[in-house]
Amino acid sequence: MSPPRVWITGAGGLLGSYLIKTARRYAPDWQVIGLQRSDLDLNDFAALRNRYLADSPDAVIHCAAIAHPPACQRDPEHAHRVNVDVTCQLAEFAVAVPLFFYSTDLVFDGKRGNYIESDAPNPLTVYAATKVAAEQTVLANPRHTVLRLSLNFGKSPTGNRGFNEQFRNELTAGRDIALFTDEYRCPAAALHTARATWELLNQRATGLFHLCGADRLARWEIAKLLLPHWPPLPGRVTPDTIKNYQGPPRPADSSLNCAKVQRLLSFRLPGMAEALAQYPEEVR
Ligand SMILES: NC(=O)c1ccc[n+]([C@@H]2O[C@H](COP(=O)([O-])OP(=O)(O)OC[C@H]3O[C@@H](n4cnc5c(N)ncnc54)[C@H](OP(=O)(O)O)[C@@H]3O)[C@@H](O)[C@H]2O)c1
Repeated sequence: MSPPRVWITGAGGLLGSYLIKTARRYAPDWQVIGLQRSDLDLNDFAALRNRYLADSPDAVIHCAAIAHPPACQRDPEHAHRVNVDVTCQLAEFAVAVPLFFYSTDLVFDGKRGNYIESDAPNPLTVYAATKVAAEQTVLANPRHTVLRLSLNFGKSPTGNRGFNEQFRNELTAGRDIALFTDEYRCPAAALHTARATWELLNQRATGLFHLCGADRLARWEIAKLLLPHWPPLPGRVTPDTIKNYQGPPRPADSSLNCAKVQRLLSFRLPGMAEALAQYPEEVR
């Protein structure tokens, strides 16, 4: 009998590539079909349908998205098309099988932090609003799963998708960066996010989960953890406060409480410092 097939959309991105890299170890029973943009433009619904019918996957992990909030802010229509309409199409095709959708901690307004799954979202940006809309469709099907993530670090195939890569690229280009000492997230290694996703799929876990690193860190603290892993770079890093920020609204504290998902996992989700100590090569 042939093994069950799992589709991974966005396979050329950060998380999609980690799911592919880790599949042999954490999902040996699955036949993994990774879809990059060059294989299939998900915006082409006719092509998407044909490919879905041809592959007939037994599960879908949907990673493809416009995942860069400023890009969504610049072109809300395109962001809605990719982040919401494509997700709805996939959820429709995958009505009878598990579908995993990645959402974001930015669905919250960040006024409080330590959010649990039953807290009410209040998206401040286009990116976050598209994620909230897509979540609702996905969660309407009791077979489907939403994982809300915080910042993920690692090495992406294009070298510019992890926040660590974007940060390092800026400094390498000689651009100075001001980082907030009072804006909080719970960063995680893409490696751990991928492992957790495979474990949840293998258990057929459904519904809504927060999946992130164990520690709540300010952007400035995140930078201080990363910098010792790199040689001196031409750009400089300085502390700043969100009170000085001017631009589209951003949540001050979108830290997540991941106790619910932790109970299902075989491993403890570490904080960023511990994850980096264990896997320094993930940011080098
Ligand atoms: N990484 C994080 O820190 C983080 C945090 C919270 C939530 N998330 C969510 O997790 C998911 C995966 O994020 P990621 O970091 O892996 O993002 P990513 O690295 O930007 O990967 C997304 C992939 O989707 C592809 N894609 C976009 N539009 C497409 C289309 N029309 N057809 C086919 N492929 C298309 C992109 O291709 P191109 O490169 O060609 O555009 C890219 O390879 C996203 O839903 C994101 O919102 C990520």
